[in-house]
Formats: sequence, C-alpha cells, structure tokens
Amino acid sequence: MAGLRVELLPWERIRDQAIPIRTRVFVTEQAVSVDLEMDGRDRRCRHALALSGAGEAVGTGRLLPDGHLGRLAVLPAWRGQGVGIALIEALLRAAAEAGLEQVALNAQTHALPFYRRLGFQSRGAEFMEAGIPHVAMVRLL
Ligand code: COA
Repeated sequence: MAGLRVELLPWERIRDQAIPIRTRVFVTEQAVSVDLEMDGRDRRCRHALALSGAGEAVGTGRLLPDGHLGRLAVLPAWRGQGVGIALIEALLRAAAEAGLEQVALNAQTHALPFYRRLGFQSRGAEFMEAGIPHVAMVRLL
C-alpha cells in the first residue's frame, strides 16, 4: 500500500491508537472478552503500529520479551494490502534486535496460510483459546 509505514513504540506511546483497533477487531468482530483482550502484559511488550499514507492508524501487533508475537490486528477496510505482512516484518526486526533466536505465536487457524508465507511452522495440535481454534507456530530468526 502506497505510503504505508510501521513504527515500533512502547505501550505508553501507542495505546491511544492501538486500543481502538484491537477493540474493533478482537472484541467487536471476534467476540473476545475485554478482560482477555487487555491481559495486562502490554507494558512489557514492544508494539508495532501501521499508519496509512494519510497518517491513519490501521493495524497493530506486539512482541513479548519472551519472543511471543500477538495481538496482530488490521482494520477490516485495510486488509489484503500488505499491512499484516509489514507489521510482522517490523516485529521480527524488533525480535532480532532484542537478541532473540526465535519467535513464537498462537495462530488463529484461519490465518495459518498468512503466517506460513512469513516462514512460520506449525507445532502440535489445534487448541481453543478465547473460544477460537489456534495452532502454535514458531519461526527461527
Ligand atoms: N487467511 C488466508 N490468507 C490470508 C489471511 C487469512 N486470514 N489474511 C491474509 N492472508 C493473505 C493475504 O491474502 C495476502 O496474500 P496475497 O498477497 O497473495 O493476497 C497475504 O496473506 C498477506 O496479507 P496482508 O494483506 O499482509 O494481511 P492483512 O493486512 O489482511 O492482515 C490479518 C492479516 C490476519 C492480521 C488480518 O486479516 C486481521 O486483522 N484479521 C483479524 C484478526 C486476526 O485474526 N489476527 C490474527 C490472530 S492470530
């Protein structure tokens, strides 16, 4: 997408823009409870924020200190334009800079092709989390 940029920021700098995106995607669209969505770990994470050419916040994701990626969300109107890939690539750079040797995530099963394309491999059987089927995935850095 023309003009797309991704910034890596601490929670205090991103929260006002990330919370509406995550609420729209996880709570409204996917019916995850607010308590599960806001799990209290955001202060410990590095966060990615995708901005459109006009400066609108359109997607977000986070990296936990232990190398887990999560809370990847792109607003519906902006999907299918490379925003998700740009967010993951930024978070992979942050993980490498932090000296991590691999990253892991729990993928919603519908997103498996998306993560496979980015070099993630499945580990183990499907399980339920927040009422949604998931598969654990890892990627070496
Ligand atoms: N299933 C299959 N393929 C998918 C996909 C999905 N759910 N989401 C994206 N892809 C494909 C795209 O079609 C695209 O392929 P193409 O270039 O050949 O068309 C490629 O993956 C890159 O996609 P991209 O445009 O970068 O992804 P996105 O900006 O649409 O973001 C999500 C992908 C999953 C982050 C977005 O759909 C989203 O926010 N979904 C709701 C929240 C969610 O499920 N988060 C993931 C939790 S594990």
